[in-house]
Amino acid sequence: MSRESNYNQAYKELEDKIKICEKCGLCKTRNKVVIGEGKLNSSLMLVGEGPGEDEDRTGRPFVGRAGQLLDRILSAVKIDRQETYIANVVKCRPPENRTPLQSEMLACGEFLEAQIALVKPKILVALGNTPLKFFLRVNGGITKFRGQWQTWRGIPLLPMFHPSYLLREESRAVGSPKELTWRDVKNLKSRLDNLN
Ligand code: URA
Ligand code: URA
Repeated sequence: MSRESNYNQAYKELEDKIKICEKCGLCKTRNKVVIGEGKLNSSLMLVGEGPGEDEDRTGRPFVGRAGQLLDRILSAVKIDRQETYIANVVKCRPPENRTPLQSEMLACGEFLEAQIALVKPKILVALGNTPLKFFLRVNGGITKFRGQWQTWRGIPLLPMFHPSYLLREESRAVGSPKELTWRDVKNLKSRLDNLN
């Protein structure tokens, strides 16, 4: 088998495993498991919190309002979503969109780690407090950490605000979450451009 088909095979096996997972209580209320999607050898991997209602219904990450905003944020600096890989810390929707519990994050974490090991992104983006907690083991702190490069197992990691948070914040004034995100995504784009 070629290297590429081995790789696709490994990814497919991982997907099959995630699809039938019952390691935490979220499996009881989910409709579809939202594994993640995108380019398998992408330089950039974006990590959100967990599926919302639209994602739970369609089985795809970031397709609701937050996802549409994420697409606009990326395309503003000419990052094509199709060229990225997008996943979440938990693959099943938490009831009422509550924050995933620590136990749910731990149960699901091995899948995200396996996805990162397969995709081998050169840059990781943590969208909001949940992935920040997953990667850096800190509680809260997105306001402090956003825009500051970190590393996770040797991979550069940029924390950014979650797009759902930006939907609730109207202001575009200097220092507002939206304006800070504009700075962060330009920072991200320049780091991506400097990879090659
Ligand atoms: N919010 C997330 O964190 N992930 C999604 O996939 C959608 C909304
Ligand atoms: N809480 C989050 O989880 N993310 C944000 O971006 C802001 C607050």
